[in-house]
Amino acid sequence: MKQARRYSLAHDSRCSKLSESISDLRNLPRRAAYTELTSQVRLVLEGVDDQIAGMATVSALLHGALGFLWTGFYRVVKTDELLRIGPYQGSLGCLEIQFGKGVCGKAAAERQTIIVEDVSQFPDHITCDARSQSEIVVPVFGRSGELIAVLDIDSAELSAFSEEDQAGLEEMVQWFRTAA
Ligand code: SME
Repeated sequence: MKQARRYSLAHDSRCSKLSESISDLRNLPRRAAYTELTSQVRLVLEGVDDQIAGMATVSALLHGALGFLWTGFYRVVKTDELLRIGPYQGSLGCLEIQFGKGVCGKAAAERQTIIVEDVSQFPDHITCDARSQSEIVVPVFGRSGELIAVLDIDSAELSAFSEEDQAGLEEMVQWFRTAA
């Protein structure tokens, strides 16, 4: 086995600097939190035109700042047929979702945000984490206006998402239309 290269504790790691800079915004009104997060997304991703880097950054910032149960992306791998897991934060997500199935598949098929106040009342909900009680799924469009993914956020609380979250998140994923 080749010996690993070892860095001392004094090594100036860009990653640890970034993780320390994710601010906890749970005490801010949601509208203000999303305004702040959207500008952080644009700042961190300045000069980047990579969708996966964008999804990873959005997941990390949102999850770290607002303390959700699960925050991540399902990517379109076959148009109007299949979504596959993308970058996410939280417990293990299911790997693939058919268009039209579950909250994610429905939001993808309809190209429209879906807010579920109580997942137990959503007939076709797919359970990845039994602690999830409410959910929001937002479609993500690319440069040509094509659907590239959905952003899925789960909360351990009932009715955690409102139209304010919808507006804030839809604004945040505009990054993929303009930059990625
Ligand atoms: N609940 C989603 C599945 C994805 S997990 O929540 C991460 C759905 O019904 O589509």
